[in-house]
Amino acid sequence: MANPQKFLVTSALPYANGPLHLGHVAGAYLPADIFVRYLRQQGDDVIFICGSDEHGAAITIKAKKENSTPQAVVDEFHELNKQTFQKFGIEFDLYDRTSSEHHHKTAQDFFLNLYEKGVFEKEESAQFFDEEHQQFLADRYVMGTCPKCSHDKAYGDQCEKCGSSLSPSELINPISTLSGKPPVMKETYHWYLPMQKHEAWLRDWIENGKLEGVQQHDPKKWKPQVLGQCKSWVDGGLQPRAMTRDLDWGVKVPLEGADGKVLYVWLDAPIGYISATKKLGEQKGFDGEALWKENDRKLVHFIGKDNIVFHCIIFPILLKLHGGYNLPDNVPANEFLNLEGDKLSTSRNWAVWLHEYLEDFPGKEDELRYVLTSILPEYRDSEFTWKDYQARVNNELVAILGNFVNRALVLTHKYFEGKVPAAGAQNKEIVEAIGVAYSEVDAGIRSYNFRQALTEAMKVARLGNKFLADTEPWKLIKSDETKTGEILNISLQIAAHLGNIIQPFLPNTAKKLLGFLGLDANAICRNAFEVLKAGETIEKPSLLFQKIEDEVVEKQIEKLNASKAVQNTVNFKENTSFDNFQLMDMKLATIKAAEKVKKADKLLQLKLDVGGVEKTVVSGIAQHYSPDEVIGKTVLYLSNLEPRKIRGVVSEGMILMAENAEGALSFMVPEKDFESGGEVR
Ligand code: 2FM
Ligand code: ZN
Repeated sequence: MANPQKFLVTSALPYANGPLHLGHVAGAYLPADIFVRYLRQQGDDVIFICGSDEHGAAITIKAKKENSTPQAVVDEFHELNKQTFQKFGIEFDLYDRTSSEHHHKTAQDFFLNLYEKGVFEKEESAQFFDEEHQQFLADRYVMGTCPKCSHDKAYGDQCEKCGSSLSPSELINPISTLSGKPPVMKETYHWYLPMQKHEAWLRDWIENGKLEGVQQHDPKKWKPQVLGQCKSWVDGGLQPRAMTRDLDWGVKVPLEGADGKVLYVWLDAPIGYISATKKLGEQKGFDGEALWKENDRKLVHFIGKDNIVFHCIIFPILLKLHGGYNLPDNVPANEFLNLEGDKLSTSRNWAVWLHEYLEDFPGKEDELRYVLTSILPEYRDSEFTWKDYQARVNNELVAILGNFVNRALVLTHKYFEGKVPAAGAQNKEIVEAIGVAYSEVDAGIRSYNFRQALTEAMKVARLGNKFLADTEPWKLIKSDETKTGEILNISLQIAAHLGNIIQPFLPNTAKKLLGFLGLDANAICRNAFEVLKAGETIEKPSLLFQKIEDEVVEKQIEKLNASKAVQNTVNFKENTSFDNFQLMDMKLATIKAAEKVKKADKLLQLKLDVGGVEKTVVSGIAQHYSPDEVIGKTVLYLSNLEPRKIRGVVSEGMILMAENAEGALSFMVPEKDFESGGEVR
């Protein structure tokens, strides 16, 4: 192989607070795996790094919710995710973890190096503090109403409804998610990275790829949306960002008097790439850190779009300040993958979990790799649906790839006892088409256009199918055995190249296919068309792919819908105290009169009898009950809700209703014949 190149490839370290779903796979792992497999196949020198991101508030929140410890949470998901990647065929050189001692040491040394260079600025500030838990609140621990879209469950770092990134002080009516109470402001101090000081060189580096003493990259090879996001961050003005946090889980700040402080997770996680490389080096006998500094090794970060700022702005600043490290050659961030018309969400359980897929579809790793590669959100968000999965497997993998290979091999067995028949004259068109496929796949993969590269690879299978359909060896055999043999020889050579070309995308299938032909992928030379020698024996093939039946995908759709229904109906709130509960005055009330509120479709004005006392309530039930239907019912009434004027009528409290998954409302009536005025406790 001419001029092998050197790469250091990383995939975003997934948080070890939950399992992996298809969005993760399509974002940062499958494209990276295809890239690495391809480069290795071409003889390039590639190191491929990943691991679990085990710090940050997402993990401590999960531990608190489950009455567990952060360590137990990350132990569970690190193991699950590591195994899931392995089973799915994502082959990292090392799947490391950031809770390990060696990572803590690397991250602390990195921090100290920068600290000693004086790059941080120590600042005091007031931050939200939970008095009940005696704890400063990480951004994720503060919840409130989003100032942009009024969603009432926005987090202090982001509103998941409208996607705005927020700071906790912007939230309206903030509460601590630990105690459910409003937090107070309290003075603390942190070490800040003055990012604004780095705007000038960052702009030049991002836009022109230039930076003294650092490898040059070609911005034209960066995705437009990645460049766009970087530019808009820098143009919008960078702000100082705290590199430490008040938390008891994470990498301890290695300074005196910094008790109770840890490194910001977005400082510690990318350093995880470096500690993993160092550890790999220790295992394999090379200097892992030096690898980050080799001037001919390209650093490529595969991530999702929500991680762009950290990999293209913050981490490069840190690497440059430290000195000697390469900055990324490219950050081919993907957009998001949606699922059946909705955003994928771990918290809403709206996801296809990779480990569940592997259990439900044993041996069908390549089918999923194929479908996800076909729909990778490379330039815009894309969507996974089970029907599309079925259609792509059945119409492309089964009907084109599998069908071609099966026909070529079965016919060889049928007419030539499983021996490669003698070759005739070369078919120039086919030789040329295969050559084009090799270069197009190469161009696609090296420019991070994996969808396009897969389309080019599949053209080889289409070519084979068309060749068989055009030449009809099953008819020709009756009149011309030699010519039939020549056709099958060409078909088998196409199949061999196909096995070679699909290897980065469909590694299991490639292995199987090349195995039928008695070939080793490394033995195939892309410039030689005749890979198989006449007279060599080929195996009897089994089917490469099976059709996916309707019931199978219907079951998956049902499973998803069931999880959505559970999610919609059972929405538990934070715990409250018994004292809080007792503040609510709930009673039985009998509806004595009811009428529609003028110009309000949803409202009924109700006169209630509450143990001899008359009350008026305006209730939003007009679309569920007519006035006639409600008179005489004894229902559940919350009497001490602050009176409120609704459409000019003062409503004294409210009627409590039950709601089902479709949003229909029902009164709560006592099961026994109780009088109005009765207490509800
Ligand atoms: O967004 C995430 O899932 C982060 N855990 C990614 C970290 S990438 C890197 F910096 F480690
Ligand atoms: Zn919002």
